[in-house]
Amino acid sequence: MKKILIFNGSPRRKGNTAVLIEECLRGIRDSGSDAEIFVLNNMKINPCQFCDWCIKNKMLSCVKKDDMNELYPKLIECDVIIFASPIFWFNLSAQLKLFIDRLYAFHGKGSFALKNKQVASIFVYADNNEETSGVKNAIKNLTDIFTYMESDIIGMIHGTAAKIGDAEKNKQLMSEAYQLGITIGK
Ligand SMILES: Cc1cc2nc3c(=O)[nH]c(=O)nc-3n(C[C@H](O)[C@H](O)[C@H](O)COP(=O)(O)O)c2cc1C
Repeated sequence: MKKILIFNGSPRRKGNTAVLIEECLRGIRDSGSDAEIFVLNNMKINPCQFCDWCIKNKMLSCVKKDDMNELYPKLIECDVIIFASPIFWFNLSAQLKLFIDRLYAFHGKGSFALKNKQVASIFVYADNNEETSGVKNAIKNLTDIFTYMESDIIGMIHGTAAKIGDAEKNKQLMSEAYQLGITIGK
């Protein structure tokens, strides 16, 4: 079975990102797979200190001990990574950005540990207009990072939902989240 990891970058436990993740997971399960969800807001993930220990020692991990130590081996072994985040100030949430910064340990020469792994994203924002929401910055950001990491970007969905409970009402977005799960789970 595929190993699928989902990272939730929202601080709201029952927020729109969480709802869309659950809908994506429903699709994944309907396709015969399963996934592990990590709520980054509840994890101890410190900022990258740029000490270069990981690169100098060719380690696919970090010298600093926090919850990233549990995540590195899972990331190395997984097949698919789904990044889900609200748009905060026209880009990824800080919770998600902190986590991605720590993937620096994976970028060293000869150790592109995320090479050929499938990557997908789910973004949600309050703005009714995707042009002014900032989602394009988040899409560009993730695309640049995972193109550089030689990963395989397989799907990026996004849409509008502001208050808690709004995601369920956005039928188009819910359907896209489910379909993304179906595709990934196959
Ligand atoms: C600090 C902060 C910054 C935000 N910045 C934006 C933004 O730039 N564009 C936007 O459309 N919505 C913005 N929002 C709204 C959230 O993206 C939106 O409410 C989203 O549904 C929250 O997802 P969640 O329920 O999973 O936390 C912001 C919210 C917060 C708290």
